Amino acid sequence: MSPSSRIPGFYKLAPAMRLRALEPRLEKHDFEAYHRGLSLEAADMMVENVICTFVLPCAVAVNFLINGRETVVPMVVEEPSVVAAVSNVARIARKDGGFSAESDPSHMIGQIQLMDVRDPRGCVARLTEALPRLRAQARGIHPRLEERGGGLVDFEVRHVVYDEPGRRREDMVVLQFVLDVVDAMGANMVNTVAEHLAATVVEVTGEALGLRILSNLADRRLSRARIVLSPDALGTEEMDGREVADRIAAAWRFAWADPHRAATHNKGVMNGIDAVAIATGNDWRAIEAGAHAWCCRDGQYRPMTRWEIREDGRLEGSIEVPLQFGTVGGPIRVHPTVQSNLKLLGVGSARELAGIAAAVGLAQNLGALKALATEGIQTGHMRMHARTVAATAGARADEVGDVTVELVRTRDFSVERAQQVIARLRRAP
Ligand code: MEV
Repeated sequence: MSPSSRIPGFYKLAPAMRLRALEPRLEKHDFEAYHRGLSLEAADMMVENVICTFVLPCAVAVNFLINGRETVVPMVVEEPSVVAAVSNVARIARKDGGFSAESDPSHMIGQIQLMDVRDPRGCVARLTEALPRLRAQARGIHPRLEERGGGLVDFEVRHVVYDEPGRRREDMVVLQFVLDVVDAMGANMVNTVAEHLAATVVEVTGEALGLRILSNLADRRLSRARIVLSPDALGTEEMDGREVADRIAAAWRFAWADPHRAATHNKGVMNGIDAVAIATGNDWRAIEAGAHAWCCRDGQYRPMTRWEIREDGRLEGSIEVPLQFGTVGGPIRVHPTVQSNLKLLGVGSARELAGIAAAVGLAQNLGALKALATEGIQTGHMRMHARTVAATAGARADEVGDVTVELVRTRDFSVERAQQVIARLRRAP
């Protein structure tokens, strides 16, 4: 059984002590990995023209109960309030049983495009007839993937039309395939299969080959998470919990109705998902692209989550979004911090990791909506920002807390004000 993720006062500890508090989840070499970070040599192997490494804060969200499992979540993010907000929501949610989360199998889509096809119907028929041959060919491209239960799942032959008004129409035929990539994100595997099958696609159709590439609209690889909260858990000093819950549901309806609000709503969700993606060495641009494209599936850009008051008066939140996460391959093998972060999460599969990321996205969204529905976002933001101001003004580690309290109390977040507070503290006996 995992040790509790509820670690009271975690945020008050010094970073080294926080790591110590996570000791039961880690091994000795993880502490070294957190200490060392990514070496210049390893970075030089990851991308081209490296000149240095660029460091971001790696924090841990606590309090999460996901599918009954105590989960601490590493998050890499530069924005204040994100980690505090999810930890706070997770603390509230665990009283009502926490989050449930699940993910579809890791089915990625690949596309092989034929351009400017003169007889699209005939081309579709010829390709459809050749599917058994293509299926046999796809087997054996990734034998180790098949050993792990993955491999080709499905084919679809599509007629796609470019018909932008005022331009020449172009018919295209696309062979789309679905590959179960198991615990990988899968881009390389899918692209390899696409390139292997392309020659046969051209041979059986006689058409001109276009692109051979994965689709980041990974809509066969959805993750879902859900929470149900009693409104009492949401009350603030100024507002009754039922009103907060009503206002959260109203905020969601705004996002559903208006793409301008939906974009900001979803940005908040991605604050959580991206931070988990970066901490676990995943391709957050792919995840972003897939998630936003999915939100347009009915023709209007919509929110990724849903918030509603149930008949029993409780607030229900859910998220469904394509999440192309991996736990093997890519930078995951090379980056020592990523490996330790995965250990910290204790995940056994990419599907489990994606489910956790969905739960964190939902938590982040609730944190934002709760703040927006009550005191507004700036109070919390400025409280966090005050720490940075205190440090900029020259506060020592043991002074930051007192300076922050004073800046928040007087609502003056200037560096000058922070310097005055520091001077006063140092004069005090
Ligand atoms: C800020 O990073 C995210 C929010 O704007 C999200 C939202 O408005 O729901 C607070």
